[in-house]
Order: sequence, then structure tokens, then C-alpha cells
Amino acid sequence: MQFSPDDELTIGEVGRRTGVAASALHFYERQGLIASRRNGANQRRYPRHMLRRISLIIVAKRLGVPLGDVGRVFAALPLDRSPTHEEWQQVSRIWKRHLEERRLAIEQLERELTGCIGCGCLSMKACLLLNPDDALRGRGPGPVRLQADEA
Ligand code: FES
Repeated sequence: MQFSPDDELTIGEVGRRTGVAASALHFYERQGLIASRRNGANQRRYPRHMLRRISLIIVAKRLGVPLGDVGRVFAALPLDRSPTHEEWQQVSRIWKRHLEERRLAIEQLERELTGCIGCGCLSMKACLLLNPDDALRGRGPGPVRLQADEA
């Protein structure tokens, strides 16, 4: 039997192939991350090419990438047909940019973890110098020194 990206799979088949629960597939569909269609018996049918999206969602979640970011990346892809190689390449470029930004943010956090992040705790030696009397509170809520560097 020859499989094709446009084969129609039941939600059970998609769940078995991806390891994702039906409730999560329904949630991803409500978020517009994946799509299915209804057959004559009003049952959901997912085109096989949705397996790639679902698998990338699994990987993104494992990496701590918010679903909102995944949605922004997937926005470049058609939902009603199998994306072309070029479309996946475009998504790959967008994704690489996102992951690079995250990597830089994580590296910066690693650097700052031993210093003052401007959160108002005044518990680090560096706070006396970098945030005396929580002077940074005027710049907004949260770890302002981290946010300032990200901006
Ligand atoms: S680390 Fe919290 S105010 Fe400096």
C-alpha cells in the first residue's frame, strides 16, 4: 500500500503515530496549529501531512517554546494542503531566528544569575551597586535588568 501526504487519518491513528492525546489534538486545532476536516459521517479526518506539524509542536514543547511562538511560525504555512519544501524552508528560517533569540536570552540569564537582575530583592552583593534601594523599581515590574537587555 502506497502512503501519501494527503491520506486521511482518524484521530486515533494520529494519536498512535504521534503519541499525542486526542484532547491535545483538539486543543491544537482550536489554537489553529493543525486542521482536520469532517467526513460524511461527521468524523474528524486529518491529512497525513499534519503529522509533521504535530511532531514539531512536540519538539517545541520539549524545548520550552511557547505554543504562541509555534503559532506565529506556523502562520507561514498553508493549513489546507501539504506545504511545499520551500514553505518548510521558510519556516525553518523563522524558527532558527526564534531559537537563536531564545539561546541568547538563556545565555544572558546564565550570565546574570550570579549578578543583580533588578527584581527588587536586594539580596545580591551587586544589588547595592546596580539597584541601590531598589531604584530600578521605577522602570517597571519584574527583573528590569534582564528585560532591559532583551529589549
Ligand atoms: S537581584 Fe534582585 S534586586 Fe538585585
